[in-house]
Amino acid sequence: MTVTIVGSQLGDEGKGALVDRWGGDADVVVRYQGGDNAGHTVVEGGAEYKLSLVPSGAVRGTVGVLGNGCVVNPRTLFEEIDGLRERGLDPDVRVARRAHVILPYHRVLDGIEEDRKAEDDSGVEVGTTGRGIGPTYEDKAGRRGIRVGDLLDPAVLRERLEYAVPRKRTVAEAACGLDVAGSDHAAAFDVDALYEEFSGFGERLDKDGMTINCSDFLHRRRAAGDRILFEGAQGTSIDVDHGNYPFVTSSNPTAGGAAVGSGVGVTTVGAGEVVGIVKGYLSRVGAGPLPTELDGDDHEEALADEIREKGGEFGTVTGRPRRIGWLDLPMLRHASRVSGFTGIAVNHVDVLAELPDLRVCTDYELDGERIDTVPTTTERWERCDPVYREFETWPSVDWASVADEGYDALPAATRIYLEFVVDEVDAAVYAVGVGPDREATVELVNPFERTGR
Ligand code: IMP
Repeated sequence: MTVTIVGSQLGDEGKGALVDRWGGDADVVVRYQGGDNAGHTVVEGGAEYKLSLVPSGAVRGTVGVLGNGCVVNPRTLFEEIDGLRERGLDPDVRVARRAHVILPYHRVLDGIEEDRKAEDDSGVEVGTTGRGIGPTYEDKAGRRGIRVGDLLDPAVLRERLEYAVPRKRTVAEAACGLDVAGSDHAAAFDVDALYEEFSGFGERLDKDGMTINCSDFLHRRRAAGDRILFEGAQGTSIDVDHGNYPFVTSSNPTAGGAAVGSGVGVTTVGAGEVVGIVKGYLSRVGAGPLPTELDGDDHEEALADEIREKGGEFGTVTGRPRRIGWLDLPMLRHASRVSGFTGIAVNHVDVLAELPDLRVCTDYELDGERIDTVPTTTERWERCDPVYREFETWPSVDWASVADEGYDALPAATRIYLEFVVDEVDAAVYAVGVGPDREATVELVNPFERTGR
């Protein structure tokens, strides 16, 4: 069977802790989209691991796969693997030969495109992580990308670089005004230097037996009875199709992406469990609307600061302070419909303890009309006024004991809040996160143990 974990908001919902927890019951953990933009923190036995590319399951010794839907920066991949090895772990990571490679020029182009947008004051600056994600997916769709399989064949790699690099250089110079030769980025556009470095990565990938035909590999593992966990990165509201375009990432974090990005059929993914990860409030690292943002007055800003500090809401990849907002149910309804959640996990309820007030946005008002889901255009979404319901706040308790004792040990006000959310998104609650450690979770259902799916 398969379990697919999907971010139901804007990323950073705390997927890592659940992937890590349930990944222990999986034989293979697969990332199906994104690249090293996906910061995930896994806390294990008091040790903290910050990863951006290696699947979280690797901390537990589970096989971690980067599927064909991912974009892979081999520099980051080997840095993370070597870092984990230095700390005594031995991650088993496999990479799809159909996955696309992030090259240094993709990062340069990501940076200059964002800079140009900021200079033009066009309002379309996305606030990307600067990891070259968008430019790599552009090249994939533009049929000039370089895939992991190409790194294994030096003649093919050279041919692909000779085609792609001059075109990217022209874009950098003519469209973005970069003086490549006179900048620090000359090596990023130099075919020989790229060939040298990336054929070396190919050799290491090959020598370590790390590359796979992902669809075939997962088919065989399933046929042998293995359990697969799909680990979505980012979240529904920054999905390139279902998010608030253009303030999105360039891939599909929603559950359909698990099939396309791994080569496992939709019927298999759909016959499994799809768990939406929800944070009890919202955070956003990039630009774009956030109707429930806490930034209206001093009181709201103080609340945002309190949540940010308690929840450690600073980007894992970029270190940027995250914007904070109240939980937004129109966003969750949309996420649940797009991915077909069978269950949800609600995280960070400990962070909401003892706040001076607590609200949930149930609907929006737009042009005098009440709507219950997210409008399709960012311009309309931006104009939405949230309609709130107030909730009683709860005390801070011994969350570790609550995690041991189970759901009924949660404060009554927390249960009222959770039950309201669950009803609204029409999916059962599988887990409640009460702290950053994997153990700090009240588990109601382990999706791998659900029968009949
Ligand atoms: P990109 O994925 O670097 O192209 O960035 C596009 C948008 O997605 C920006 O708003 C980023 O801040 C956001 N983003 C990318 N990865 C993550 C993530 O892992 N968590 C939260 N936001 C992300």
